[in-house]
Parts: sequence; C-alpha cells; structure tokens
Amino acid sequence: MDLEAQGIARLPQYKDNPGKVAFVQGALTGELVTYEVTREKNRFEKGKVQEIHEAAFFRKKPYCQWFGYCGGCSMQHIDMRTQIALKQRVLEDNLWHLGKVKAELLLRPIAGPQWHYRYRARLSVVNRSIKKGTVLVGFHEQKGAYVADMTSCEVLPKSVSELLIHLRNLMMSMSIRDRIPQIEVAVGERMAGENDLEGGGETIALVLRHLLDFTSEDLECLKKFSELHHVWIWGQSKGIESVLPIYPLTGSLFYKIPEFGVTLNFLPSDFTQVNPQMNQVLVGKAIQLLGLECGERVLDLFCGIGNFTLALATKVSEVLGIEGSKELTQRAQSNAHDNKLKNVSFKSADLFKVDKLALLSWGVSQRWLIDPPRDGAFEIVNTLAQIKKDALSEELLYLPKRIVYVSCNPATLARDAGVLVHQVGYELKQAGMINMFPHTSHVESIAVFDLKI
Ligand SMILES: C[S@@+](CC[C@H](N)C(=O)[O-])C[C@H]1O[C@@H](n2cnc3c(N)ncnc32)[C@H](O)[C@@H]1O
Repeated sequence: MDLEAQGIARLPQYKDNPGKVAFVQGALTGELVTYEVTREKNRFEKGKVQEIHEAAFFRKKPYCQWFGYCGGCSMQHIDMRTQIALKQRVLEDNLWHLGKVKAELLLRPIAGPQWHYRYRARLSVVNRSIKKGTVLVGFHEQKGAYVADMTSCEVLPKSVSELLIHLRNLMMSMSIRDRIPQIEVAVGERMAGENDLEGGGETIALVLRHLLDFTSEDLECLKKFSELHHVWIWGQSKGIESVLPIYPLTGSLFYKIPEFGVTLNFLPSDFTQVNPQMNQVLVGKAIQLLGLECGERVLDLFCGIGNFTLALATKVSEVLGIEGSKELTQRAQSNAHDNKLKNVSFKSADLFKVDKLALLSWGVSQRWLIDPPRDGAFEIVNTLAQIKKDALSEELLYLPKRIVYVSCNPATLARDAGVLVHQVGYELKQAGMINMFPHTSHVESIAVFDLKI
C-alpha cells in the first residue's frame, strides 16, 4: 500500500510483459481482488477495485456514507491501528531512504479521537448547474475537480457538519453565489457566559471568499444566518489582509492549553493546528522532549501565534519566537501580553532566507523547537552545517544542544535530518508520529536531535 492507501502489486510476467506494477485504488495489502484498469502505461497501470475475493483482516466498513466519493478522507476502510502503523512506516522509510538516518528510539505513536477532530477546513462552493439550481458546499471529490455532493462530514465538528446543508441554502440565497468559490471554517472554544451553566462549547467562524462585493440584501442574509446558527461571518475579497468581520463586527476566537494555563486568541485566517485535542498533547510532548532546565533560553522557530512559545515561557527563563508572517507575530505578542508572560519576545523574519549572520543574531540558545510548514527548514539546517564547517569556536556555541523538530511532511523532515546528522554532528535520538489527521494520508511527526559532544 502507498500512503494514499492504494494497493500496489507486481503483475506476473508473461510473454513480452516484463511484470508491470499496478496501483489499485481500493485494494489493501494481502488482498485478492479483481480490478478495472483505468490507465495503462508501458511500465505501470492504474486501476480501481471491482470485486474483493479475499479481504484483509484490517479492512473496515467505512463509517461515513460519502467515503470513496468525497476526497476529504482516504483511509476509513482501514482500521485505526493499521492506519497508524502505515504512517509510522512512512516516517521510518522516509528517514532512512531520504535522510539515511535511523532514530535510536521510536516513540510510541500518539493518537486521539478518530472523529470530529477537524477544527479548520476549506470548503469549496460550486453552482451545480443553472438548470438544477443548486449549490454544493463541501470537499472536492476524491477523483476529479468537482465538489462532492455531501450533506454531512464525520471529521468536522458535529456543529459544522450540521451546518453544511444550511450553508448550501445560504449560498443559494446570495446574489453573487457564483462569485463565492470558498468558505474557510475555523472553530475556537466558546467563552462560558453567565447564562451558560455548562460553559465551554465552540465558536464557529466562516470566512467567505468573495470576488464581488455583497449587496445589501446579501449582507442582510448573512446577518440572519449568523444570528440563527450562532456563527461568526467574515469576508475575504482579496489577499489575506482583506479578511474582515461581517457579522458580528468584533471578537476573536481562542483556544486554551490547560496543562500550561495559557489562552491563545486567533483570527479565522491565522494558522492554527487543525486538531485542537492532539495539539494539546503535541505541545506537552514537545516540551517534555526538549528536556528543559531552569535558567535556559529557548528558540521557537516558525512560532505562528505562539502555540508552543507561550507554553515554553511558563517553563524557562527566556523564549524567543520567530515567525514569517507579521500579522501572526503581532498576534503572538499580544497573546504573550494577555497571558502576562514577560520572558518571551517575538521577531518577524523569513526563515527560508537564513544566513549565518541572521542565525547568530538570534543569540545563544541551548534548545530549539522547529515547526516549519511542509517545505521544511532546509536553510536553517544548512546554516547550522555552515557554522560547523567553519568551526570557529565562538560560533560553535550557537549550535543548540537539543533540537525538537515537529513536522507535517516526513520527506522534508528526513532531508533536514540527513543534514543535521551527517553534516552538523547531531544524533537522531527519538522520532515518532502523532495521528493529527485520522483517516487521511497526512503524517505529523516529531523528532529529537542531540548535538554529539
Ligand atoms: C506548521 S505552522 C506552525 C505554527 C506554530 N508553531 C503552531 O504550532 O501553531 C508553520 C508556521 O510557519 C510560518 N511560515 C511559513 N513560511 C515561513 C517563512 N518563510 N519564514 C518564517 N515563517 C514561515 C507560517 O506562517 C506558520 O505560522
């Protein structure tokens, strides 16, 4: 199986056929299936399962009725243990094949709730056909560029899943409905109000990407929708800087990390981790793995709104968070202020353009946390390699003794690990996966590097 959960088989050799490789959608390891060929090439072919003659013991009945059609999930037909094992193997394979490194210790996979975990999503909007007069709101189909005709989703929070059908109706009522291609969903916690005896709950924010201005009737509909369904509606007419509230006009979303007693405010357009429960575990685990000691200074690279930075600041004497987006850096600063944390500072910098001068300007820190986007942190690890190569004793002090690297792409983690181990002199002590995105092929992982003495 590959990570998209396609079965891979080598066909038997016969006559002039050299034994092609077949990638079969819907087939699992060890199964005997009949499939329909959907694409044929000289050295490989692609296909789709027609009949399963012998099913794998780990095959499961998908929980969601849209599975196989909607492109949101690719692994619901595989039991959770096997999904996790598959992702763990992807991590190990990448580390070995791309980075030529092996972790001394593999961490036990970290897993959480399987359903209703996805607190951030991009839904597409499409006018089905002028004749049918309906609008679809949802994820893309698994194959093809169309939007799936889905009315529920098992990985979105229940409150958001229940909104899907109402969102169709809302879009239908918009005069500019063919100029609204996307709705971003961001969910935060809800403030316990005076009349809210249970407290907590969720606040849903919807950001409507619109290519034309809303009419006053449209705005009235949005206001009514917001009041009826208790959601916040925002609009985005151009780039990220144009994200503005429509109704209500004030307020920000927030989430808490109770283990560290911190609260983070964010706007619906800000980067936040998709799965808030696993995020709490991830922050705790990363901080535990950093092995902090009192009086140390820590760097948090790609710090976003301060997700790890604030928690770190409750444990050490000084933290510096560095982030590329000015808006996120400002949010991180105001989050530190709201949490009354004075030992933390932030800096805005492009971490894909790092040189030795920039790195030395960050100061000496014994421990670094790195949590880059999918592209990884190649420039940073290469700069560390440069410092090591130049071997100037006063610069070698800038190499942190421990790096904890949180990654959403095992391929770039493996590439960067290769540089850290083979060029800078780190040892890959531990690595493991966090099941941040159950039923999808996304692999989130964490790795610990120690500088060899
Ligand atoms: C995976 S997110 C992690 C954010 C944060 N650590 C968290 O847990 O919420 C990666 C972060 O890198 C930032 N980023 C993307 N490209 C960057 C760049 N070239 N330089 C610095 N930061 C960048 C993004 O804005 C985002 O906040």
